[in-house]
Amino acid sequence: MCGIVGYVGKKNALNVLIDGLKSLEYRGYDSSGIAYISNDEVNIIKEKGKVSELEKKINFNQDVDLGIAHTRWATHGEPSVKNAHPHTCEKITLVHNGIIENYEELKEELAKKYNFLSDTDTEVVAVLLNEIYKEKKDIVDSLIELKKKLVGSYALAILVSDEKDKIYALRKNSPLIVARSTDASFLASDVPAILKYTKKYSLLLENEIAILTKDKITFLNDEKEEITKEIITFEGEENAALKGGYDHFMLKEIYEEENIVKRLSEEYSSFEKLLHNFKDIKKYNKIDIVACGSAYHIGIIARYLIEEYADIPVNVEVASEYRYKKNFLDKNSLVIFISQSGETADTLACLRKVKELGVTTLSIVNVVGSSIARESDIVIYTKAGPEIAVATTKAFVAQLVIVILLTLYFAYQNNKMTKEEVSSVLKDLQKLNIKDVINKDYKDIAKILKDKNDIFFLGRNIDYAVALEGSLKLKEISYIHSEAYAAGELKHGTISLIENKTPVISLLTCDKIIEKTISNIKEVKARDAYTIAITTKAYDFIDKNIVIEKTNKLLMPILAVIPLQLIAYETAKLKGCDIDKPRNLAKSVTVE
Ligand code: G6P
Repeated sequence: MCGIVGYVGKKNALNVLIDGLKSLEYRGYDSSGIAYISNDEVNIIKEKGKVSELEKKINFNQDVDLGIAHTRWATHGEPSVKNAHPHTCEKITLVHNGIIENYEELKEELAKKYNFLSDTDTEVVAVLLNEIYKEKKDIVDSLIELKKKLVGSYALAILVSDEKDKIYALRKNSPLIVARSTDASFLASDVPAILKYTKKYSLLLENEIAILTKDKITFLNDEKEEITKEIITFEGEENAALKGGYDHFMLKEIYEEENIVKRLSEEYSSFEKLLHNFKDIKKYNKIDIVACGSAYHIGIIARYLIEEYADIPVNVEVASEYRYKKNFLDKNSLVIFISQSGETADTLACLRKVKELGVTTLSIVNVVGSSIARESDIVIYTKAGPEIAVATTKAFVAQLVIVILLTLYFAYQNNKMTKEEVSSVLKDLQKLNIKDVINKDYKDIAKILKDKNDIFFLGRNIDYAVALEGSLKLKEISYIHSEAYAAGELKHGTISLIENKTPVISLLTCDKIIEKTISNIKEVKARDAYTIAITTKAYDFIDKNIVIEKTNKLLMPILAVIPLQLIAYETAKLKGCDIDKPRNLAKSVTVE
């Protein structure tokens, strides 16, 4: 959601900035813009649509060494050139990621003196900062004052026309990283924008201001004192944010799942390693799990697993609801937050709410050093590497492995599983055959689904949770309406939508409940549905069986979800959809 890049250095800033924006396209956006210094002037170019449209408007044959750029995911005001960033007011030009919640009251006051040109909350920040700067004459003092006046979330990159060799940056609740290469300074919303130049970066924190010049980056705290920052080294592959020969990032990331599972299975290869890795996790009587989107589906799988194997009651909620309802927590409760990006606004707000109650928080996060990771009492990293496709796949699988491992740990802690039982699952995890599932052909199924208007997914227990994810994957990238149902529930209304050849995709991997789901498949079959099953054995009455290997029952959801990811992928591909950047969606949802 909104991407920011800033650069000052020896290279052509225009190339670096446009390249950077392209590497952040995955975050989701609908317009883009750039501001750069040329001939001692601040120049601004903006365009609606893709970064490639903005690129066409830029003359790259200019000597430019400093600029800021932005991809905008519309919140206040439609996607348009006028609403695209940068926004400017006299001496101030800035780009913004986040939402200024008090922008209306600020605007009302400022509108007495200033004629606003856009519908955005961001322009209000530019105007307000310009007003403060006129009075204070010192930009750092003005930024400190600005922070006091803004309510909401923001990552800001700012040019001041009195200091054309510098970029100023500050943030609250929206991510921003800052980095140095040998001859340049960078800022960005996420690491893919800098990986070509450096693997080392720092996280800008909330009470800090960064000042970038071509020679150095200075960090100040709110008292204007210079501070030293921790430098983080990105541990993944340099080309992690490149497609590497695959048609789409989504496909590349699905193929990476095999290695991700392998790596995690090695990290937790023995009972002793499991205990060691989770040594900070005490015994809890009750667990709440909070997440959004696909991560929420992991929460549902985790509930089935932890309740069944560890015998601990688990409550799972989407963060945007959990935030505003009563929670029943005490000192023996644990709240788990699951998030790929570690920046999802609602999940982060829930984490803060729970922390205020003094309850232990544990997060399962992919992005190292993200807000949720930093602010949790305990963090478990999924180590899936940067995920570029908006529709999550590899991070989902990595989260799944982590919740299975946590289940084993809780089950042992609670005397529900023995050391031998735990060790046996860990061994099976090492042997898991992901390659075979990925290499199956899903194109035939995609042909069947491609022109349908409605598709249903069925499953019971963990199969139901996996069905929810399969349905979300399909709708988000292929734009086909689909719904997932607990198989026994379909007959209470929705079965009226089943007609001739309506595809119904069922999951039959959860042994103890398979017979019941089979009865439900027969019910839809009797009403002329076209039935597809992800199953551990083929059934004659089902139109299309996708047979996956039977492994340890705790590990089945890992194998079961991959066909659904690939079915969604192949269907979207046949339909010619923009698979990696589906319309209206954002990868990192930093608004509430
Ligand atoms: C967005 C993404 C989803 C993701 C959800 C939660 O909607 O498109 O794929 O599951 O946010 O994101 P998080 O980063 O917290 O896992």
